[in-house]
Amino acid sequence: MFDLRCLFVSCKLMDPASLLLRLSFFGLFLILLYLYATRNFNYWKKRNIKYVKPVPFIGNLGPMITLKKNIGFFLLDMCETLKSDVFGFFAFDTPFLVVTSPKLLKNILVKDFSIFNDRIVYSPNGHPILENVMFLAKGQSWKNVRSKSSPAFTSGKLKNMFLLILKECKLLTDYIDKFVDMPNVEAKEICAKYSTNVIARCAFAVEANSFESDDAEFRKIGSRLINMKLSTAIRQTICWFSPMIVKLFGISVFEGSSVTRLSAIFKEVLHTRMNSNENTSNDLIDVLLESKKKGSELSEDFMVGSAVQFFTAGFETVSSVLSFTLYELTVNPDIQQRLRKEILKHIDENGFTYESLNAMKYLDMCVSETLRKYPTLPFLDRVCNADYKLTDEITIEKGTKIFVPLFGLHYNKELFPNPYKYDPERFADKSVINADNMLYYMPFGEGPRICIGNRFGLMGVKTALVSILSKFDLVKSDKTPEHINFDPKGIVLQSTIGIPITFKHL
Ligand code: HEM
Repeated sequence: MFDLRCLFVSCKLMDPASLLLRLSFFGLFLILLYLYATRNFNYWKKRNIKYVKPVPFIGNLGPMITLKKNIGFFLLDMCETLKSDVFGFFAFDTPFLVVTSPKLLKNILVKDFSIFNDRIVYSPNGHPILENVMFLAKGQSWKNVRSKSSPAFTSGKLKNMFLLILKECKLLTDYIDKFVDMPNVEAKEICAKYSTNVIARCAFAVEANSFESDDAEFRKIGSRLINMKLSTAIRQTICWFSPMIVKLFGISVFEGSSVTRLSAIFKEVLHTRMNSNENTSNDLIDVLLESKKKGSELSEDFMVGSAVQFFTAGFETVSSVLSFTLYELTVNPDIQQRLRKEILKHIDENGFTYESLNAMKYLDMCVSETLRKYPTLPFLDRVCNADYKLTDEITIEKGTKIFVPLFGLHYNKELFPNPYKYDPERFADKSVINADNMLYYMPFGEGPRICIGNRFGLMGVKTALVSILSKFDLVKSDKTPEHINFDPKGIVLQSTIGIPITFKHL
């Protein structure tokens, strides 16, 4: 490395010729560094693809690095500036492609999936648990993990887990009861406690006790995993944009000590259950042990990876969708009233069952609209593994990294008129959404890599909504925000001030 201190301290003592020589070397070094950092900046121009002008060394990542925008809004801004089906940007020196055309997205995510089967996100090699985490797995290893995990998400298994979730909903409403009529109750924290309990019960076969104590271990692990600290933002940005640093420092998208602790808890429960031969709990351990008995080769690391995956992918997503729906129902009392009417009618006629939950059409419309307005994971990502003809004019190279901007699609005025309005009517006829071989509404992603937990997640959100709305009225408090602002430090959407509201008895 060029020694700057040496240059400046000793320049006074130097004769003019040596000083000139040193300055020339320094200048040359800077020029070479600049040329290296900008060597790819013609990449999109050469391919005749629109792009956002990059800045040396950081590319276009300025708004993310300075924590002004989270990745969802960073991509949305570029979509609104360039208004193009396909465009490029740069992360540091690496070119990335953004695709917004619903027809091209159908090809990438579904039709030609074999060419786009991996995500961009990097993970350190050789970690026994993370290698079994489906979201991070690549190629054949992803295929193995996905096919071994699928039996946990069949309709029959979900129906069994519904009963476990119902018990957690009773704890949820008992807890809310303690805060009735109080202003500015933090609904986001209540939702996080609930989703933590649900995942701990269904995946780890333990009671998380989040409602009993603010120090409950699972709740603490959840807070660590999803905290909005600068270090989390940096770690996550690196995992999507800088493979070299991931390899060099073994950085992972999930906070290390949380993964270690979750693994230890699951192993303990797993060993106890294997020895007791008891499997009537309808949780993930039952499903895994049943598959093993039927001859499926499931290593202990795979089983632990499945539970860690369940927690990391499920707890914050369920909590976010639930809390954003509670917020929208609070600020839209007409919609809240209509939804409550539907819920009470179904409970009155058929009781609160798995079947009656799935028959609540307006409930489904409301949750679908929440997922449009608040796509919890606001982007999808894929890597192209062969040269690929995207359109008649554009062929992309093997290795091209692609982002799908969910805000860009879900807030597109032509696809969803008046996009900032919360309007469940958009989903009155779901058959028109994504019709004609197009894909533009994808809160759970699409194609073979679609969210494997989508039906479980929806069940967790809807069961809680039915339980809450059948007992409580949601009312605005003085601190309930007019609009939600999103924390720029998170990959998953989070409100900057939580969701303060008032619960009242019906
Ligand atoms: C309810 C809210 C949820 C939302 C909005 C959500 C959203 C997403 C999205 C957008 C993806 C990326 C899909 C793609 O790239 O095409 C994904 C992947 C995934 N999600 Fe979810 N998710 C939710 C709940 C859950 C739950 C409860 C689980 C629990 C198991 C889960 C497990 C996963 C897994 C394992 C993947 C990776 C799938 C693969 O790579 O094959 N998700 N999710």
